[in-house]
Amino acid sequence: DPTLGALGRKAGLRIGTAVDTSALATDSTYRETVAREFTSVTAENVMKWQLTEPERGKHDWAAADGLVDFARSHKQLVRGHTLVWHSQLPAWVTEGSFTPEELREILRRHVTEEVRHFKGRIWQWDVVNEAFNDDGTLRDSIWLRNLGPGYIADAFRWAHQADPGAKLYINDYNIEGVNAKSTALYELVKQLRQEGVPVHGVGLQGHFAVQYGFPGDVAANLKRFDDLGMESAITEADVRMPMPADNVKLQAQARGYSVLLGACLVTRRCTDFTVWGFTDKYSWVPGTFEGEGAANVLDENYAVKPAFDALRQDLTLA
Ligand code: G3I
Repeated sequence: DPTLGALGRKAGLRIGTAVDTSALATDSTYRETVAREFTSVTAENVMKWQLTEPERGKHDWAAADGLVDFARSHKQLVRGHTLVWHSQLPAWVTEGSFTPEELREILRRHVTEEVRHFKGRIWQWDVVNEAFNDDGTLRDSIWLRNLGPGYIADAFRWAHQADPGAKLYINDYNIEGVNAKSTALYELVKQLRQEGVPVHGVGLQGHFAVQYGFPGDVAANLKRFDDLGMESAITEADVRMPMPADNVKLQAQARGYSVLLGACLVTRRCTDFTVWGFTDKYSWVPGTFEGEGAANVLDENYAVKPAFDALRQDLTLA
């Protein structure tokens, strides 16, 4: 069978996966599958601030550099994830007592140093991640509280200055369909672009659950960003389910993946479709949602699930 990556290439988009670098180091089936099926990769954790600068001024790029090298040797592009987020921050940032001015300088340094470190090696950066609440207001975070809403524009300007060649994304969840959150994000990026802020793309994470159903207007949502001249991507697709899995849930899951991929395929500037892991052997879901799991397109033994066939079929017919 042709790989997802090969089918994606014909359809004009990259097919990516989040990579767990511990699994990459220890599990040869995992490693071979990443290398074979995908044309782009995202670091699931190792480019996050908590891991890149655990102590102030002491950077640890080893794990992230290793992934970038792996990608290069397999002709894969890299999505950088993520520069400005409220979560997975180093303790020295969250527990330090800094003035707003100091925090702004700390954030500026972080964005600049990380983007500069990877300069020329990152295709798309998730510059700002999960900045909104579901009602469309900005999320209360260390950044909003101390820096005000201007931190978003600042982050994009700093990132662009550090690597003018990287495509800069704003990324969030629950913005797949047209709703209060996606509309607020749309209004923000529209305004930022009018002001000349270098925000190039919108990332729809795509964390779905079979028991909640899937929005029917993902393509309509993507179209409005496309009409602004923006790129878009599905950045973290997975479709979890209440355990145990059964055939009905697995079929529903396949439809969920198709909703996301199908919307990307019909959107002119949708550049890539990334799954948040590809095997149920390694997934963030059971640790976060009790009693749920089986969110990926291969099972824990790397056997193909209906969702994997659905992706193959959608790409073939595109
Ligand atoms: O590596 C440490 C290990 O040394 C330690 O013993 C263990 C004990 O808790 O923790 C390990 O770190 C965990 C890390 O994943 C690596 O496995 C963290 O606790 C755990 O919180 C972390 O979870 C990650 C989560 O982001 C953190 O918010 C998930 O792997 C990762 O899939 C998830 O990814 C996010 C995206 O970045 C943003 N969108 C949502 C998505 C899913 O939550």
